[in-house]
Amino acid sequence: MLMNPIRIVRAIVTNLLALLLPRYYLQITGQTGRGRGDTDPLEVAEYYYQCFLDYIEQMSISLKELPEFLKGKILLEYGPGDTPGVAILFYAYGAEEVVLIDRFPMLSLNASNIAIISALIEKLPPVEKNRALGIFQRTGDPQSGFREEILNYRIHSKGLSCLEEAVDIIYSRAVLEHVADLEASFSDMSCALKPGGLAIHQVDLKSHGLHQKSILDFLIWPSWLWYVMYSAKGVPNRWRFNKYQDVVAKTGLITTKIKCMGMASLQDINEVKNKLASVFSDVSDEDLRCLGFWILLHKPQEPPK
Ligand SMILES: C[S@@+](CC[C@H](N)C(=O)[O-])C[C@H]1O[C@@H](n2cnc3c(N)ncnc32)[C@H](O)[C@@H]1O
Repeated sequence: MLMNPIRIVRAIVTNLLALLLPRYYLQITGQTGRGRGDTDPLEVAEYYYQCFLDYIEQMSISLKELPEFLKGKILLEYGPGDTPGVAILFYAYGAEEVVLIDRFPMLSLNASNIAIISALIEKLPPVEKNRALGIFQRTGDPQSGFREEILNYRIHSKGLSCLEEAVDIIYSRAVLEHVADLEASFSDMSCALKPGGLAIHQVDLKSHGLHQKSILDFLIWPSWLWYVMYSAKGVPNRWRFNKYQDVVAKTGLITTKIKCMGMASLQDINEVKNKLASVFSDVSDEDLRCLGFWILLHKPQEPPK
């Protein structure tokens, strides 16, 4: 792989900018958390609705059972992006409160996000719609802001909730591959969950556009160089399937389901195998092949002896 010096210098300078002026960096890059080109509010509302359906399918709960299941429950979402679409749906279907944690101040009630939220609420059946309208400080008016006792948005420099045995369900999508300190995030999760609570995450292990010729060649950059180029921007941390399993094993959380979604080909592996950054040299081909996964975790009622 050619390490283009212009790309390196540009990446380091923009990383410094993101480190020193994170709000300005978010503003000039126009990040929403969902990628670019998704400006139609109906389509974005559909995206959030699908994310929500995916979570309940992974938890093996039907829409009909959901209100009973969510009743009285406190949820925690890591990395909601700029619009808390999934949190609104979980509240509409019966959750008591959703705490939202982000590393960056992404949430924004600008005109296009209000249009997305309104489109999302319009999709709901009458009972759920009525409940969702009550999520705002002035009923039915997104511009008035969210009621903090229902949707509690927090920023933490490391994206941690710092809660203790306070939540029943933790969820995230396309977030864990961005966290700078995976051990800290899983330990936060384990601490924040009540005994018997569950966590569900979808993790995308692809390059997020940072590969060059082959889909896994972003794993070639030495770790120190990746860090100085990208650490403050929230790009993928590059950890592979094995790392997540190792980190979970240290938390005391039980993995109830883990399912790969998408596999690289053996040719993709062979193209990078002998050039990988040293931190990935021990990763098995099978673990390297996994391009994303769902994981469901459960916190035992009693801590393991
Ligand atoms: C790719 S976006 C996904 C947004 C949203 N979940 C979705 O599916 O549209 C990643 C999100 O994770 C957030 N994030 C990055 N590092 C984080 C961390 N350590 N803890 C919590 N959130 C983090 C980003 O600021 C952003 O909101």
